[in-house]
Amino acid sequence: MGKFVTFEGGEGSGKTTQIGLAVEWLKGRGIPVLATAEPGGTPLGRKIREILLNRGPSAISAETELLLFAAARAQHVRETILPALEKGQWVLCDRFADATVAYQGFGRGIDMAFIRALNAFSSLSVKPDLTLLIDLDVKTGLDRAGRRTAGVRPEEAEDRFERENLAFHDRIREGYQVLAAEEPQRFRIIDGAATIEAIHRQICGCLQEFLQASGG
Ligand code: TMP
Repeated sequence: MGKFVTFEGGEGSGKTTQIGLAVEWLKGRGIPVLATAEPGGTPLGRKIREILLNRGPSAISAETELLLFAAARAQHVRETILPALEKGQWVLCDRFADATVAYQGFGRGIDMAFIRALNAFSSLSVKPDLTLLIDLDVKTGLDRAGRRTAGVRPEEAEDRFERENLAFHDRIREGYQVLAAEEPQRFRIIDGAATIEAIHRQICGCLQEFLQASGG
């Protein structure tokens, strides 16, 4: 089996850039790697992503939102993640089940026990071997995300989550900290305020340590 590594963090934390750099770093060490993202990672998942990020005005209840993330994940695990792991590939995933606990649990206030049960059901209880949490001050992250979306095409404009207030994003940041404290052996906290290069070095350090610990 390959290794399953997830990247988590709030808005504008730079996960996507860092995954690209980590993929190159792993490939340079001869490790077969697949980069994927949630919600997304399959044709169905990408359609669900469009509905969830919903840059238009239509309403989505918190419960509907939760179930759509779970639906995208159910397909993603079965169609993409598990087959890749079974082939021996490393899977680097931009967000996974922790995001649902952070956003729909801590952020929206949906019952945690239910979310955890739903996560286990949708993910076939597949758990990341390593989770890199890129931690960043909420305001800085939202400003970065705002700069990214300023003046761009409508399909890249600020999404439904980026439009939420600071308190929502603060709860998510704190939620991620709680999750990291619950499973310190799985989580590594990365300082997201550093430069792209410095964040990449922190991540390479974690991957190196993980490789050695897993006999690679
Ligand atoms: P992204 O911006 O990292 O691509 O993620 C899309 C948005 O979806 C982001 O605001 C976080 C949110 N999200 C959830 O609310 N719950 C989830 O389970 C996942 C995977 C993402």
